[in-house]
Amino acid sequence: MRAVICTKYGPPDILQLKEMEKPLPEDNELLIEVHASTVNRTDCGLLRAKPFIVRFFTGIFKPRKSIPGTAFAGIIKAAGEKVTALKVGDRVFGFDDSGSGSHARYMTISKDKALTTIPGDMTYMQAAACTEGAHYAYNFINKVNLSSDQNVLVNGATGAIGSAAVQLLNYFGVNVTAVCEGEYSELVKSLGANKVIDYTQEDFTEIDHTYNYIFDTVGKSSFARCKPLLKAGGAYISSELGYMAQNIFLALTTPILCSKKVKFPIPTDCRGSILFIKQLIEDGKFKAVIDREYPLEQIVEAYRYVEKGQKIGNVVITMEHNNKTTQKSEHLTKTTD
Ligand SMILES: NC(=O)c1ccc[n+]([C@@H]2O[C@H](COP(=O)([O-])OP(=O)(O)OC[C@H]3O[C@@H](n4cnc5c(N)ncnc54)[C@H](OP(=O)(O)O)[C@@H]3O)[C@@H](O)[C@H]2O)c1
Repeated sequence: MRAVICTKYGPPDILQLKEMEKPLPEDNELLIEVHASTVNRTDCGLLRAKPFIVRFFTGIFKPRKSIPGTAFAGIIKAAGEKVTALKVGDRVFGFDDSGSGSHARYMTISKDKALTTIPGDMTYMQAAACTEGAHYAYNFINKVNLSSDQNVLVNGATGAIGSAAVQLLNYFGVNVTAVCEGEYSELVKSLGANKVIDYTQEDFTEIDHTYNYIFDTVGKSSFARCKPLLKAGGAYISSELGYMAQNIFLALTTPILCSKKVKFPIPTDCRGSILFIKQLIEDGKFKAVIDREYPLEQIVEAYRYVEKGQKIGNVVITMEHNNKTTQKSEHLTKTTD
């Protein structure tokens, strides 16, 4: 089978496409023929082992898993004896933040990991793109108590996490203000944002408005700058650790010292996220934003592009079309290269 191989930590150039033996599933595992994956910011973090703490989970000196990839969508080709809930022929999708080996034509995964059947006739590309950003967005949302009379600001609303967060907040009936580049205003409104702030024209931390929660899904602000915008009892959540990892410290101290808090969105329960997103997809309440697709052969270019931190939603990797070149999604007009 074709697979991307990564034997050390480093930049995208270290990735190599090779022919490998097809893996065999253990008793509690499934063999999945991968049809689509993504390259996301989690993959980029695992590739370079950044932040350093990643190494404690993935291997101190080199990656324990030699095939990268976290998100996947495909079809079950074999199932171990102990697998009962899923069967050969099922179309499935899922995500493993420690690495699923999905940048390959075939992967094996435990039945207990975060995977489930793809709803209806949803494409593999769309299913794969509904996982990573949605999981992290859900882990912002499940750290707070939402109600329909609240206002929430989402900074970075065009990212994988941000575009998912806007849709999830909309699902919970919250009033959403999205911060993104002006040309994507209509896109984020279509996801459920009630108001859009163009960050190239206006600094959202200077506006005269207050919010119950501020979700900085791109980690470009700080609690100090956002605090004046928070209502009493409100909370600031960022996807990044912040300057000198201050968000960890603030998440421990602000609940004791202040009425305005910092919460740190430690992502837990991948499986719970995927099952929740599946339900939303079935209810017609969630659809991933796809920026562009790359064939597996262009994996290095895909990582280079995602590392720029400018993708709009998700970047998908497809397996079947060897001769295909990069395709930009039709609804996006921005020139990003
Ligand atoms: N370490 C990990 O394992 C890990 C895993 C997942 C996520 N994360 C972190 O979570 C963050 C978000 O991830 P993601 O996947 O959602 O990011 P992403 O998809 O790469 O998106 C970044 C988006 O943010 C927008 N943006 C950039 N600067 C901005 C600014 N100053 N104000 C508002 N929007 C801005 C970009 O749009 P424009 O180009 O139009 O500005 C782009 O659409 C990243 O910081 C990432 O490092 C870390």
